Amino acid sequence: MTHDSEQAGRAPETSGDTVGVVFVGCGYAADFYGATMPNYPHVEVRGAFDVVRERAATFVGEYGGRVFDDFDEVLDDPDLAVVVNLTPVSQHYRVTRAALLAGKHVYSEKPLASTLPEATELVELARERGLLLSSAPSTVFSRSARTLLRAVGDGRIGRPRLVHASLDMGALAFMPYTQWRSRRGVPWPYRDEVANGCVMEHAGYQLSWLVAMLGPVVRMAAHTSLQLGGEWPEQGELAPDVCLGFLEFAGGAVCRLSIGWVAPADLSLTVIGDRGVLSVGDVWQASAPVMLRRHVRTSGKTNAYLAEPERLPFVAPPARYRYADTHDLTVGAGVADMASALLKGEQPFLSADFCLHVLDVSLRLSEGRGVMEDVPLAVPSDRMPAVFPVLTGAAAT
Ligand SMILES: NC(=O)c1ccc[n+]([C@@H]2O[C@H](COP(=O)([O-])OP(=O)(O)OC[C@H]3O[C@@H](n4cnc5c(N)ncnc54)[C@H](O)[C@@H]3O)[C@@H](O)[C@H]2O)c1
Repeated sequence: MTHDSEQAGRAPETSGDTVGVVFVGCGYAADFYGATMPNYPHVEVRGAFDVVRERAATFVGEYGGRVFDDFDEVLDDPDLAVVVNLTPVSQHYRVTRAALLAGKHVYSEKPLASTLPEATELVELARERGLLLSSAPSTVFSRSARTLLRAVGDGRIGRPRLVHASLDMGALAFMPYTQWRSRRGVPWPYRDEVANGCVMEHAGYQLSWLVAMLGPVVRMAAHTSLQLGGEWPEQGELAPDVCLGFLEFAGGAVCRLSIGWVAPADLSLTVIGDRGVLSVGDVWQASAPVMLRRHVRTSGKTNAYLAEPERLPFVAPPARYRYADTHDLTVGAGVADMASALLKGEQPFLSADFCLHVLDVSLRLSEGRGVMEDVPLAVPSDRMPAVFPVLTGAAAT
């Protein structure tokens, strides 16, 4: 059967209370999924396919289902309603397109595709065929995110005005990244990661929360640069390792966003409203505390105006099955939400349109789109001190 044709695959029927899923690509990230899928009894892991058969074999050995020997076998199986695309980013478009053409619903790891035209084509294809298409990250389903979003929605801080969001991972070039292994011993694919860059790998983790909370981005500017390129032993393709973005949302709130592999780790999110401030220390921890600081009345010459932080009760219990790693990413929740949507005949929260918007903004950030002005000196350069004297040890005491 040729799946790359315009032949319409028919959306598989979902019968009963469960949805059959298959994992395509069983590398490093697949362990995050496999380990957390038992949280969702309505999702049935029917098996896995990987171009490296051994990887699919270890995946099903650990997490269930059967090995599929080739991709066509996946596409031809009527019991598989959802393809979970965990291939490298360069393969996302091709694998997702083939699956949609075969009539499968698709949940893809981020990004949906490498370019906006490709992603738009996938979204249109899914829409035309009545198929669901969704994409990671799904940390917006974490109990921290849900607690934060509920607090904003309940007006606990009044109207959100300003957000400070960071996804700075620490200086990757100085970490022992060649030694990182998943639970099944799959090495962390650092070459792919640094070629894709910190923005395409990580922007979605903050953007998905921000768009869910504040609506779509309507104006933005961004600047990127490569600061630690010389620290990599292999000089392959390197994307920028610093990105600073300024976003304005439909509701009027603005955000300064920092993403990178240079600054020490900071994965925090602070939402400043006109009645208080909400913050989460680490958006990669599903159970990171959500703190509220309300406005208080003060007097005298003080710049204090916020009460002591109070920890909000979580609006949801912790997940039972978690992937014990440095982070707790709620990965299976996106697949589970899509499966629920399928059973109910609805769209998932992370709809194709939502994911396309997140990708669009991620690409704009990654390309550093925005106005960077040159700053010509207003005086001749020899009238500017070269460096502050203390830096040369010449400072008089
Ligand atoms: N590495 C991480 O920490 C991490 C975390 C979250 C999400 N992700 C995302 O998960 C996705 C996969 O990343 P990874 O780290 O698991 O990469 P990986 O390289 O470890 O795994 C990818 C797997 O896909 C297989 N593969 C390649 N082409 C294929 C094809 N056409 N059909 C079937 N299998 C194919 C490879 O053999 C490999 O086993 C990426 O989108 C990445 O952005 C990665």
